[in-house]
Amino acid sequence: MQPTDEIREKINVVDLVGETVRLKKAGVNFRGLCPFHSEKTPSFTVSPAKQIWHCFGCGLGGDVFEFVKQSEGVDFPEALQILAARAGVTLRRPEGGVSYTPDQKKNLYDINNWAALFYSKVLSDSQTAKPARDYLQKRGFRPETLKQWQIGYAPDGFHAFEEFIVKKGYTKQEAATAGLLVKREDGSYFDRFHERVMFSLFDMHGRVVGFTARILKDQDGVSKYVNSPETLIYSKSRLIYGLNLAKTEIRKRDEVIVVEGNVDVITCHEFGFSNVVGSSGTAFTNPQLESLKRFTENISFALDADAAGVVATRRAVELALAAGFNVKIISIPRALAKDPDELIRKDPSLWENAVKSVQSFLDFYFTRILATMDLQSATGKKQAVREILPLLSLLPDSIDRVHYSQKLAGAVSVDPKVIIELLNKAGLSKFKSAQGGSSESSQSIPRKTKQEILEARVLGLILKFPEELALDIPSLKAEDFSLPVHREIFQTIAEAYSSGRLNMENLLSEHPKLATNLNLLVFALDNEISFEGGGNLESLKQNFLGQFREALIRKSMRQLTAEIKNAETAGNPELVKTLSLEFNHLAGELSKFRN
Ligand code: CTP
Ligand code: MN
Repeated sequence: MQPTDEIREKINVVDLVGETVRLKKAGVNFRGLCPFHSEKTPSFTVSPAKQIWHCFGCGLGGDVFEFVKQSEGVDFPEALQILAARAGVTLRRPEGGVSYTPDQKKNLYDINNWAALFYSKVLSDSQTAKPARDYLQKRGFRPETLKQWQIGYAPDGFHAFEEFIVKKGYTKQEAATAGLLVKREDGSYFDRFHERVMFSLFDMHGRVVGFTARILKDQDGVSKYVNSPETLIYSKSRLIYGLNLAKTEIRKRDEVIVVEGNVDVITCHEFGFSNVVGSSGTAFTNPQLESLKRFTENISFALDADAAGVVATRRAVELALAAGFNVKIISIPRALAKDPDELIRKDPSLWENAVKSVQSFLDFYFTRILATMDLQSATGKKQAVREILPLLSLLPDSIDRVHYSQKLAGAVSVDPKVIIELLNKAGLSKFKSAQGGSSESSQSIPRKTKQEILEARVLGLILKFPEELALDIPSLKAEDFSLPVHREIFQTIAEAYSSGRLNMENLLSEHPKLATNLNLLVFALDNEISFEGGGNLESLKQNFLGQFREALIRKSMRQLTAEIKNAETAGNPELVKTLSLEFNHLAGELSKFRN
């Protein structure tokens, strides 16, 4: 069996899609909001019977591979690799052929994976790791936790990992590219990490892509954490610590909690708070928010209420608001603990209470500002307005904007109109630009073109109603279809038609390679018809074939216009005349669609 077929057999499209999209049963199918374009009513449908998905809003659709390609923005070989790992299918490289995955990346994954195994083994078995074992035990890490999060220890000395990875058949240069060795000027190498607790960093699929390494004893002048350098597979500003283990729970609860430290993430999970991810101590970036948005639009930042954390989080709050999240703040009472890890270890119910008393981000900032500023003085009032106004301007809901404008006005005792006026002046434009920012990024998401959608509808219609559309087939040509796969399918249909064997079963059994595409075309059509509330065949035919033909005519007319121009510049009146006649003829055809 081909690995692709094996993967299709092992991975249910409903489970895969269901991890990122909330799906509801709708008849024999499942329906949800499309993860690839923003919409309010669900037009994204998944068929368990056919193992395909389709959105008639943006026209995208396909099988499990296509879903990973679109949702991860990767090409087919990488989607294959991701799904193979998930399904436990080993990919053999085809003899002498191209490898399935870009070798460079594969090497990086493999080396990091070996490193995680190596450091874990050192932690559990090696004499030198005794202090690390004691340290982790003292901090309360359970053995299962160490295993699940692939926590390890980098031994002292500078060559232990170097020797290990060379024995595994990799070059030192490769291990250096993976960030695990450092090259000296004289060309020799040494281990990047030593005498540190190694926290594996995972990508969303649970692959180790790097490490964050903690010193055992805090020491002045030595940084507490050292991270892997950026590589082809690891980017600090994209990675979300713990997302691989949290994603299902985030989607289930429709909420994500963001904490600052990796240790905080681990402790939260250890105590059953599994919708928690980490930001590596830095403010969340747009790429990180974009990844999270596929799972939920409700984000709560947990932060130390009194510290610089507030300033750092402010930026993340603004970005999250601009990206369309509902933003809330969980404050850690400074008097009790400095971070979630400490709080939970003191008493998990303290953390539970903190989570329960979550505040909308504006209530949180209001409370803080009112508590810390002298609102009697003009300076204090101005400062409070300056701090809060930009946040108000990011509120997408106008009722909220008015509500909080009034609240701010009350706090600094000015007429609410003044605040609203200020907001309209400075704020609204800012909100627009924030919106613009996010729609810009949604533009980068692939959509089917109008033409491609029209083509798919016509093909779907023929495949679903081959007898009823038989007479229309000869009037169409393969060249009428712009997408190569559509052209191929039309060709196949036309051949089957002329030999009198045109029906879905025949096509599927004679063209197994096209099966997914063929099924998808019919599925997409059904999806659309059911959403439009049915419709009889005659009107569907008129609509779909009509729009398709109309588009073809328009295309020919555009071509003719260009040709006429050329003929004019070339000084060829005869040709201009012929082409113009043709143009008029098409214009006449087009007008038939108008009534
Ligand atoms: N961090 C970092 N480099 C540093 C310090 C911190 O990358 N020099 C990142 C780490 O990802 C860390 C996070 O910032 O997890 C938060 O830092 P901190 O609160 O100091 O770490 P904790 O996770 O609380 O670690 P611990 O409890 O072990 O002190
Ligand atoms: Mn901590």
